[in-house]
Parts: sequence; structure tokens; C-alpha cells
Amino acid sequence: MKIFKSKSDFKDYISSEKNKGKTIGFVPTMGALHKGHLSLVERAIKKNDLTVVSIFVNPTQFDNKEDLDKYPKTFEKDVELLESIDCDVLFAPSVSEIYDDNVVSETFDFDGLEHQMEGKFRDGHFDGVGTIVKALFEIVEPNTAYFGKKDFQQLQIIKKLVQKLNLPVKIKGMPIFREKDGLAMSSRNTRLTEEHRKAAPFIHKTLKKARKKIGTKNVIEITEWVRKQFKKHPLLELEYFIIADEKTLQTATEFESKKRYRAFIAVFAGEIRLIDNVRFKNN
Ligand code: PAF
Repeated sequence: MKIFKSKSDFKDYISSEKNKGKTIGFVPTMGALHKGHLSLVERAIKKNDLTVVSIFVNPTQFDNKEDLDKYPKTFEKDVELLESIDCDVLFAPSVSEIYDDNVVSETFDFDGLEHQMEGKFRDGHFDGVGTIVKALFEIVEPNTAYFGKKDFQQLQIIKKLVQKLNLPVKIKGMPIFREKDGLAMSSRNTRLTEEHRKAAPFIHKTLKKARKKIGTKNVIEITEWVRKQFKKHPLLELEYFIIADEKTLQTATEFESKKRYRAFIAVFAGEIRLIDNVRFKNN
């Protein structure tokens, strides 16, 4: 695997590969790779001539300095994992390569998608995500980029970014990868204490139980039921549970037959904030 830290070396290399007519698949990450990331990379390898993974812990998408400082960094292990699945290229720039000395976000209008859920609870988060994803797309110039549905709101926002800026890249959303006990895979899971790790599968279990109530309970009743489950839980603190229209991400007030819904949740397990979501239909 080729590893680039310099933006200009990387750009020289990638443009020579593109000149040979190669298609580029791209998986942007913040490192601390897990099986969910690797499934995106494997998909990119299968569908493209050349696969690029980026590792860059993007400071402008963190609303909390401590969270940024404590974000897990496992570069050597990440390289080993990427080499084990024959990834072609790793781009791992420093903060100054990307931002020079101006570490600030652009401001975006994502037609309201940015004001819901993560946008409401993490100030400036999606301006930071938009800034870095736009910058990386300009550097990598991928044909297709792959994102996990665990960050479903992020996925919708990146689709909107591409649409609004007319960027020539296809965005593919890939299924959530889960541990055997149902916990959605996340780089943050490694920071859970033993007791919070044991408690965390409760999140997905509760989402599944809530989904079973469609048909017998309405949106407000299901939302209330979920809140009660977490109130009773000694280790997990609910930040939000929302049933929303998949496309607009607006909170639903009732189920309408022609719309697709998803339930979104954010929970604190001690200091660690976990998010998850499930398609919300009766099955
Ligand atoms: O999902 C992530 O890991 C990050 O938000 C992304 C898309 C790599 C941008 O920093």
C-alpha cells in the first residue's frame, strides 16, 4: 500500500493514475479502523480500479476539545488492517496540510438537514464535516465515495453537499456493521469502560423493541416508551430519540404510508456518546 502524508505528492500520484483511465473509490475516515470501515474499503476495492482511504481526525467537526484530544489514534494498526485487505493507497495528511494555519469551517446550508439531531446537539459539527469532505473530494477526485449508515444524518448531508456543489462524485451509503450483541461498530467503542460496554447493546435492543410497537402505538407513544426505558437504566443516559422522515430528517408526528422513516438515537454511556439508527417500519 502506498502511504502519502503530503497533499502535493498525493495529488501528483492520483492524477497520473487518473490519466491512465483508472476509477477511484474513496473511503474517508478518522482512523481507529474497525470491521465497519473495512467493509467500506472492501466494497471500494471490488468496484473501482484504485482505492484510496484517508485518515484524518478533523478538528473542525468536534465541538469539544476533550473529545478531539481523546479520539482514539491507532495509526500503525490501521495501516496493518488496510494492508491485510490490499487497500491501494492511504492518504494521511497533517492538520496543516489540510487547513494551513486557518483551522476553521466554512458555513454550509444543507436545506435544514443540519439543524436536526447531531446538528442540534453538536454545535458546528456539520459545517466541519462539510468542510473536510469537500476538501478531501477536491484532493482525491474520487468517482465514488463510501460512507456508513451509522452516521445516517452525515450521509444525507454529504449527498446534499454533492448535489448543491454539483461535485462529480457518486455517494454510496453502506449498511451498519454490528458486534454480535448488536452494538453498532464505532471507533468510540474502544473507549467504553467494561461495564458500559456490557450495557451498550441495550441501545440497539431498545430500538428493535420500539420498532415492534409500530401498528399498536403511535409516534409519540413509542418515543415516550423509549424515554422511559432509558430513565430506568442505571448506566445509560438518553440524549435524544427521534423518529424522523428518512429524506428530510424532520421529526415525524405520525406515520404516513408513503414515507420512509428511521429512528435515531444518541446515548451517553458514561463519558462516551454513542449514536445508532434503524429503519423504522413494521417487520
Ligand atoms: O465519519 C467520519 O469518520 C468523519 O465524519 C468523516 C466523514 C471522515 C469526515 O471527517
